[in-house]
Amino acid sequence: MDLYEYQARELFAAHEVPVLPGIVVETAAQARQAAEQLAAPLVVVKAQVKTGGRGKAGGVKLARSPQEAEEAAAAILGLNIKGHQVRKVMVAAGADIDAEFYFSILLDRSNRQHLAMCSREGGMEIELLAKERPEALAKVAVNADGIDEQVAAHILAEAGFSQDEVAPIVPVLVKLWQVYSEEDAKLVEVNPLVRDQEGSIIALDGKVSLDDNARFRHSEHQSYVDTQSQDPLEAKAKEKGLNYVHLEGEVGVIGNGAGLVMSTLDVVAYAGEKYGVKPANFLDIGGGASSQVMANGLEIILGDPQVRSVFVNVFGGITACDQVAEGIVEALNILGENATKPLVVRLDGNNVEEGRQILAEASHPLVTMVETMDGGAAKAAELAAERK
Ligand SMILES: Nc1ncnc2c1ncn2[C@@H]1O[C@H](COP(=O)(O)OP(=O)(O)OP(=O)(O)O)[C@@H](O)[C@H]1O
Ligand SMILES: [Mg+2]
Repeated sequence: MDLYEYQARELFAAHEVPVLPGIVVETAAQARQAAEQLAAPLVVVKAQVKTGGRGKAGGVKLARSPQEAEEAAAAILGLNIKGHQVRKVMVAAGADIDAEFYFSILLDRSNRQHLAMCSREGGMEIELLAKERPEALAKVAVNADGIDEQVAAHILAEAGFSQDEVAPIVPVLVKLWQVYSEEDAKLVEVNPLVRDQEGSIIALDGKVSLDDNARFRHSEHQSYVDTQSQDPLEAKAKEKGLNYVHLEGEVGVIGNGAGLVMSTLDVVAYAGEKYGVKPANFLDIGGGASSQVMANGLEIILGDPQVRSVFVNVFGGITACDQVAEGIVEALNILGENATKPLVVRLDGNNVEEGRQILAEASHPLVTMVETMDGGAAKAAELAAERK
């Protein structure tokens, strides 16, 4: 579960990582009041969305008066940043920045360890830095003992900090490790971690992703579960008990079994390259799905305005193809005239003949039956491209 910056800041503060005071608000008028309350010569108004690159998208603005803070909030509230609607902004005291650094700790699954990353050059474009000048970003493996003062000093030395710079930063890194381990996070990132003109080290930004598998240990994290900004289609799918992930493309995908659906996404992505189309979602109806489950799944996918065609790829094992076919017919009946998007269906395995027969008898003008997975992906991609 990803947290908002203001929530990450709360956790930082609880572990004594230095942060500046901030107030979260939902209207421009409240932003003015917040700035008055902070009574700082400089405040910053920041979009609270769970995505990076807010600054570049116009979601971070400095303000030198309550009036300016109100204007900044008015400009930021309602922005759409990479598909995330801004509903809240944080008004925070401004820092008098001397230097911006980068620090993060994450779970490095492939190497079965934790990884700390650190750079003297923090700020907005760490991804670019990592690509263009990887030597400027130190990567240090951290074992289960974590980051104590010694390890912290080592990380900073690797990142090229001079001896006399290290001392004030060390305790901050140690505390950030405490956030990471005690809160069961899989990512703690601070970009920028700044030094101000007085030499104080402050976390000006914070990104924390908590490990959902450790949720049972943290009832206090319950309030971070965010229903409001959940993708509405994902929320609806969850309500119906479906395994659904919304993606960015145009070809809806339904299958049975996570493995089959994953490989279907691959073949659709591959077939779609030619036309510039991609999978629109992951949807696994699971084993032994009834026609009702199939109908629910289709309803969600067809209700996605991004979707231009749908590929139903089912290999009947526990799930019988006739049930799937009935589900398709049922969903199309329920939707009636609202069904306007072409469906490509590949059925194989358990009760395939019965399934194909049900679809053949229904002979719905939107449904095309195909024999193979590759053929289905190609057809669905082509149909999506035609309607783009
Ligand atoms: N409290 C503050 N005082 C002064 N300047 C700030 C403050 N907060 C942020 N800034 C400036 O704005 C820049 C961008 O802020 P921030 O890191 O929070 O957003 P971002 O990096 O664009 O967002 P994201 O981390 O989501 O990509 C910082 O690098 C810093 O220069
Ligand atoms: Mg940042």
